[in-house]
Amino acid sequence: MRILVTGGAGFIGSNLVFSLLNAGHDVGIIDDLSTGSMANLHPAAWFRSLDITGPGLDAAIADFAPEVVIHLAAQSSVTASQQDPDRDRLVNVEGTRAVARAAAVAGARRVLSASSAAVYGTPVTLPLGEADAKAPENPYGHSKLAAEKAIAEELRAAGVDFASLRFANVYGPRQDWRGEGGVVAIFCGRMTSGQTPVIYGDGSQTRDFIYVGDLVFALMEAAETDATLALPGDDGPAYNISTGTETSVAMLIQHLRSPAGYFGAVENAPAREGDVARSALDPTKAGEVFGWHSRVSLEAGLARTVAWFAQNR
Ligand SMILES: NC(=O)c1ccc[n+]([C@@H]2O[C@H](COP(=O)([O-])OP(=O)(O)OC[C@H]3O[C@@H](n4cnc5c(N)ncnc54)[C@H](O)[C@@H]3O)[C@@H](O)[C@H]2O)c1
Repeated sequence: MRILVTGGAGFIGSNLVFSLLNAGHDVGIIDDLSTGSMANLHPAAWFRSLDITGPGLDAAIADFAPEVVIHLAAQSSVTASQQDPDRDRLVNVEGTRAVARAAAVAGARRVLSASSAAVYGTPVTLPLGEADAKAPENPYGHSKLAAEKAIAEELRAAGVDFASLRFANVYGPRQDWRGEGGVVAIFCGRMTSGQTPVIYGDGSQTRDFIYVGDLVFALMEAAETDATLALPGDDGPAYNISTGTETSVAMLIQHLRSPAGYFGAVENAPAREGDVARSALDPTKAGEVFGWHSRVSLEAGLARTVAWFAQNR
């Protein structure tokens, strides 16, 4: 299959591209390298360096002529969304709309777009189902929710199948740990280099941690399924990609100690404003519609992640 990955030079995108190529697909990448890197690019993939909000997008997508577009390119930082909400909206909402429109014109039959647990805000019940209330608490959550609507507006009428996949907290090899990266990457980076990990708050806050290899399977299975993902009457349509399980940040440290070989101190800093206390997303719908379920246990995923950080950080 010809599959175009926007954001294919980033953390999730580069893991996805490697797996798609291994599975025998023809893979194209569009990425402006704003947070992604050349080192993440697979030489066997077709590549165009361009901004999804700028000129040249339509021609590039038409040129590659994908059957499926997996749209991961985004302004992916909550902090950056708070500092520059206009830029966040431009990339995440208008960029998603532009990708969807160009994909339809180029004849793609399906578009999958990365959404986030941030669309829900503070959970009322756990684990959260796709139909539960959406109350985003930062510009990033708002832009991801608006992007879900934009893609539906563009593609429902065009007859292109589509879905927004709401990722829980993704972790694994190639995640950035020096900037605002995910908590697992930051802990792995620090603990494998003998630096003290810092917990914001008392560590009782929970997240639903999904291994990037599991997420890659979800994207591949959603790309390949014969099922229709944009179900009639489905508002979105969205699918949680998650484990459904809560893990506290303190427990994460305990799980990482042995694989990272770090048995030193842990520093506690004041809780960060706006951090939700608990989070978990129910992945049942993805299982029912396209047969995906997570396979990698937290212990196994953390061990693989630590091994990568120990060699590559
Ligand atoms: N990492 C997570 O835990 C997580 C959780 C939920 C959702 N997501 C979403 O998954 C997707 C991938 O996230 P990631 O963690 O790999 O982030 P990332 O920052 O590593 O990857 C994003 C990629 O998009 C590219 N990009 C950014 N703006 C662009 C633009 N205007 N034009 C072209 N390319 C552009 C970047 O260069 C980068 O390669 C994003 O949509 C993100 O919002 C990630």
